[in-house]
Amino acid sequence: MAELKTFDDLDELARGAAEEIAKSAEEAIAARGRFTIAVSGGNTPKPAYRLLGQEPWLGRIDWDRVDVFWGDDRHVEPTHPESNFRMVMDTMLSRLPIPFANVYRMRTEMPDAKRVASDYERTLHDDFDLEGAELPRFDLVLMGLGADGHTASLFPGSEAVHERRRLVVAPWVKQLSAWRITLTPPVFNNAALALFLVSGEEKAEALKAVLEGDFEPDRVPAQIVRPEDGRLVWLVDRAAARCLRDVDR
Ligand code: 6PG
Repeated sequence: MAELKTFDDLDELARGAAEEIAKSAEEAIAARGRFTIAVSGGNTPKPAYRLLGQEPWLGRIDWDRVDVFWGDDRHVEPTHPESNFRMVMDTMLSRLPIPFANVYRMRTEMPDAKRVASDYERTLHDDFDLEGAELPRFDLVLMGLGADGHTASLFPGSEAVHERRRLVVAPWVKQLSAWRITLTPPVFNNAALALFLVSGEEKAEALKAVLEGDFEPDRVPAQIVRPEDGRLVWLVDRAAARCLRDVDR
């Protein structure tokens, strides 16, 4: 069952997100000595990323024990303005005492996007010490929502939405005329916590479709993310929640 928390605005949502991430990190590190997170791209998470580089959140997390992965990235150089790696480095990781060895970027500079995906699959196998068809279990996968209902790089009509075997794929996104590299639904759904951040009235229709519409992941891919043995938490602001039924506004 999805948990929904509504905030007045993006700033409050960002504080709520920083709190959820810090709490998840503290619990994972206390229980298993490590916290694994798959971060999201886009604009919505930026204020939360900046907060994690500041007190009180900065000091609460033992960054030596944090491993950062990406839920998806664009097929561009890591220095490109469109790169999710660059965005997360600039807004958060460059300000944190996190060892560079703990930062697992997708090697998007490789000319063949399919190779980027298979290379990242190997990274996951190695770092999570996976056997055969085992899935990595992230402590937290941070997710966004596009106005078209996409999440990560799972776009409407994409076969990636129905991927059941691979951990990482490289779909051609016709809506963008671009290659993307993305973790797949089995990986997202094996997480202990899938945390969606959604802000702005331009997301209101998509959010209503995800949370209150029929289950149609081809049309609303974000619906495919439902951890089998984990929590699904939506942090939204009032503008994004304006079309939802029975939400205290
Ligand atoms: C990306 C993200 C993508 C993002 C949504 C929402 O690579 O851009 O993974 O799925 O979360 O597009 O983006 P905004 O937060 O910018 O609205």
